[in-house]
Amino acid sequence: DWTMQEFIGKEINRIREICGSSGRVIGAVSGGVDSTVAAKLMHEAIGDRFHAIMVDNGVLRLNEAAQVDEMLNKNLGVNLTIVDASSLFLQRLEGVEDPEQKRKIIGNTFINVFEEEATKIEAEKDGKGRVEWLLQGTLYPDVIESISFKGPSATIKTHHNVGGLLKDMKLKLIEPLRELFKDEVRALGRLLSIPAPLVQRHPFPGPGLAIRILGPVTRDQVKILQQADHIYIEEIRKAGLYNEIAQAFAVLLPVRAVGVMGDQRTYEQVIALRAVQSEDFMTADWYVFPAEVLRRISSRITNEVLGINRVTYDISSKPPGTVEWL
Ligand code: XMP
Repeated sequence: DWTMQEFIGKEINRIREICGSSGRVIGAVSGGVDSTVAAKLMHEAIGDRFHAIMVDNGVLRLNEAAQVDEMLNKNLGVNLTIVDASSLFLQRLEGVEDPEQKRKIIGNTFINVFEEEATKIEAEKDGKGRVEWLLQGTLYPDVIESISFKGPSATIKTHHNVGGLLKDMKLKLIEPLRELFKDEVRALGRLLSIPAPLVQRHPFPGPGLAIRILGPVTRDQVKILQQADHIYIEEIRKAGLYNEIAQAFAVLLPVRAVGVMGDQRTYEQVIALRAVQSEDFMTADWYVFPAEVLRRISSRITNEVLGINRVTYDISSKPPGTVEWL
């Protein structure tokens, strides 16, 4: 793909011109495709003057922070700080059930933590200078969405980014992906030697598992959902179906149902599984699994995840459902 190869060369030159010979760039990374590709590109352009920050908000997927460390820092050589702010997030989320309230708390807390970390980086006396730019993995569809028509999902649910930072830190924005569509970012990722499983990853919302736990978010609830979600995705991958599905995840319902284990009656929580096919997530169809795959997933989740005795499959399309349950 020579056009993408050419894009890389041009974009690296452009970044170098913009950033000159001193001053630092910071950027939030999530483990997703966009932020990883943007970070790698920045690293290629200015090396250690780019500093990536990953905020562990306590509602990430199983082992996610460790995986990002392994990938970005150890494999791709990107300068990375992981901040474990899970206690702060979970404390602020305590007792909160309303989805928009969850989004707001997570968005605002993210900005607080990110800003504090950026200030620490700036204070380092390592000769790399002031933090002057903020890297954002904005894609072309995001640019379009923010300047014109707001689609249903944008108006129904608040999507947070770190834009608020600009006001306080007066950072200049750098958006190397702003002319690209998702499939182009994936192609770019492959050319930058980012491993295929990461390049093909399903999207994951900023508010993370907090909007997949119906009802209040606690450490115990997070743990249950992380385990169920991990099994679900693992079995989808084993069945070779991951790339056929646009997005798949587990949801933890706030109800309890009766079940039986051995000769014991149980009264435990319920997991809902969601998988959709979609072009742009404005509309989506529920995915038709082979029955034996669902059987395996259900049996593993009920056997392996303590606190779950029932698994259901969500057969709602968007509209009238949304992709997420909250
Ligand atoms: P919905 O639920 O609106 O989801 O049909 C459409 C797509 O958007 C993602 N989504 C979010 N992403 N912050 C995000 O970064 C959010 O608050 C948020 N809410 C939904 C969802 O995962 C799906 O890919």
